[in-house]
Amino acid sequence: MSFALAVAVSILATLPLGAKPRVRIVATGGTIAGVSASSSSSAYTAGQVTIQTLIDAVPQILDLADVSGEQLVNIGSQDMNDEVWLALSKRVNALLGKEGYDAVVITHGTDTMEETAYFLNLTVHSDKPVILVGSMRPSTAISADGPANLYNAVAAAVSPSTRGKGVLCCMNNQLLDAKSVIKAHTIDCDTFEGGPAGYIGYVYNGEAHVLQSVNSRHTVNSEFDVENLTSLPKVGIVYGYANCSPIPMQAFVDAKFDGIVLAGVGDGNFYKDVFEVAQRAQADGIQIVRSSRCPTGPTCLNSEVDDAKYHFVASLDLNPQKARILLMLALTKTRDWQQIQRFFMEY
Ligand code: DGL
Repeated sequence: MSFALAVAVSILATLPLGAKPRVRIVATGGTIAGVSASSSSSAYTAGQVTIQTLIDAVPQILDLADVSGEQLVNIGSQDMNDEVWLALSKRVNALLGKEGYDAVVITHGTDTMEETAYFLNLTVHSDKPVILVGSMRPSTAISADGPANLYNAVAAAVSPSTRGKGVLCCMNNQLLDAKSVIKAHTIDCDTFEGGPAGYIGYVYNGEAHVLQSVNSRHTVNSEFDVENLTSLPKVGIVYGYANCSPIPMQAFVDAKFDGIVLAGVGDGNFYKDVFEVAQRAQADGIQIVRSSRCPTGPTCLNSEVDDAKYHFVASLDLNPQKARILLMLALTKTRDWQQIQRFFMEY
């Protein structure tokens, strides 16, 4: 055997056979990193424990993957904001792109996890798994759900079945897609629901099983890009109810917001005084999107409201908080209400 060949063989012999997938955990805070006054107390503070402490608490994840972590922020997700979203999206794109990680897991509070998941679903340009995970009980609670959720999230991240499925949330053994996922209960560990199609998969015994795919555009098929953005358009949400005051919508107009989403009654309907403000706002270049306060069902185009006449956009299958995210990103590309409506039909 030549010397060069002998050297090559000796180097190859040192490489680990079947190297584990490289998974990066990006921590943002939330209850999964929360600490309670006592294990039996429901009083706690989110975003207290660092990512390395969380990883050290679940050493079994090291059997699944080559895991490392980084702390982006440590906040309750009620304080999630555009600045963190932009930083997180850019970081995930870098981790999955030039830094070559095989998957990213994001620890996050559950209050706004559905929003962050959808924002990343539209702005991360990779088909590698991106899994958001949180918990409903703090890390110090009796039967804390965070450790098992984190283990399941890493198991989902290394599973070939989650590749190309868009950004997913992993909670309570379930995998939920970013467009449909919603926090449906204030305190229950089984709080997350997946819309009319339900959850798209589950994780059990360290194995992820994906049962269905989503057909809306996301990740590598998304035309939205925040790489060169340092801010996002201003879009507010107005809640509808009987005898609704027009003051909140007028306040967004006066503050020169770029768009306003209506969480309307029924099929995205306005109270008459609010309707008048909305018509004037649209005419002045502020894009109005009709969504609904109803927890299920679409907000339909040109149904009780003649959207074509007023140039309103119907949110279709997006609830108000997700309609806001799509409208924010749509306004980075166009002010054309028909083009924006196309986005709502496709994403
Ligand atoms: N402060 C809430 C949040 O960070 C707690 C809810 C949770 O993380 O489960 O979203």
